[in-house]
Amino acid sequence: MEFPVTRLRRLRRTEAMRSLVREVHLHPGALIYPLFICPGEGVRREVKSMPGVYNLSIDEAIKEVEEAAQLGLGGLLLFGLPAVKDEEASGAYAEDGIVQQALRAFKPAAKKLLLIADVCLCEYTSHGHCGVVSKTGEDYEVENDASLSLLARTAVSLAAAGADIVGPSDMMDGRVGAIRDHLDDAGLEQVPILSYAAKFSSAFYGPFREAADSAPQFGDRRTYQMDGANLREAMREIDQDIAEGADMILMKPAMPYLDVIRAARERLDVPIGAYQVSGEYAMLQAAFAKGWLDRDRSILESLISIRRAGADFTITYFAKDAARLLG
Ligand code: PBG
Repeated sequence: MEFPVTRLRRLRRTEAMRSLVREVHLHPGALIYPLFICPGEGVRREVKSMPGVYNLSIDEAIKEVEEAAQLGLGGLLLFGLPAVKDEEASGAYAEDGIVQQALRAFKPAAKKLLLIADVCLCEYTSHGHCGVVSKTGEDYEVENDASLSLLARTAVSLAAAGADIVGPSDMMDGRVGAIRDHLDDAGLEQVPILSYAAKFSSAFYGPFREAADSAPQFGDRRTYQMDGANLREAMREIDQDIAEGADMILMKPAMPYLDVIRAARERLDVPIGAYQVSGEYAMLQAAFAKGWLDRDRSILESLISIRRAGADFTITYFAKDAARLLG
């Protein structure tokens, strides 16, 4: 049927009408809020490039856990800033590591929330790389296979401390399989793996590296994170992680890579998460501060676009704001 019989504007005339025919929806239960946990007491230190995001000591972070639960968020993604860093990232798998302590402390307040522990070495290594480094300087090498046992050990330690889900974000080959093996051996066969399958080497992680104090001291992450030009390779990464036992996959960044999310959605039946990363947050916040974009509408529009691309859930620093807007 053509105009004038068909008039697409008929279904846009009122909010009730628009709401009736809306194709995708946002709900707080599908939003995950990241937290950066640091040592100390009473610490609430704002990240300069991420207004509204803080390094929090455990006692301060508990307040966020309670608020997140009250807002009906799906869960929290935990990152740690250890007191000391070393070559072996020992803080990542220490019994009393910062995230391990946080998990135990948060558990009572987090009954309705999923506690997701990011599994990576970069916050814990003195050099800031996501794996073990064999040679330093110009010809440094991030060793794949030597990193796997440390990553698996980290995942087991975090799951034993109470993580409901572990999320490896290091991009070493074979880490999902190694983590699954070690979790199963430790009797943690019920803990799911959310694998950052398609993680692109992105400038949009810049503010995170300030938040997590995890910028590499030399070189960059291009030998393990993916080239931003490669969609087909992203599909191979995903297939590989699923074959190794990933229960869910994560795509990241989100907004500059919506086509990758869509392609993954069309290909797969596993749940897909997307991470609206620090730089996406920083850039929107900067525009809000200048009065150049409408805050509330931009937050919701950015999140609905990620959802429409095919993500089942989204990790976002706007999770609390969005839940309030939806509430
Ligand atoms: C750790 C990790 C990073 C992010 C999540 N996990 C940083 C990186 O890879 O450099 C980035 C998240 C963000 O930018 O919000 N490897």
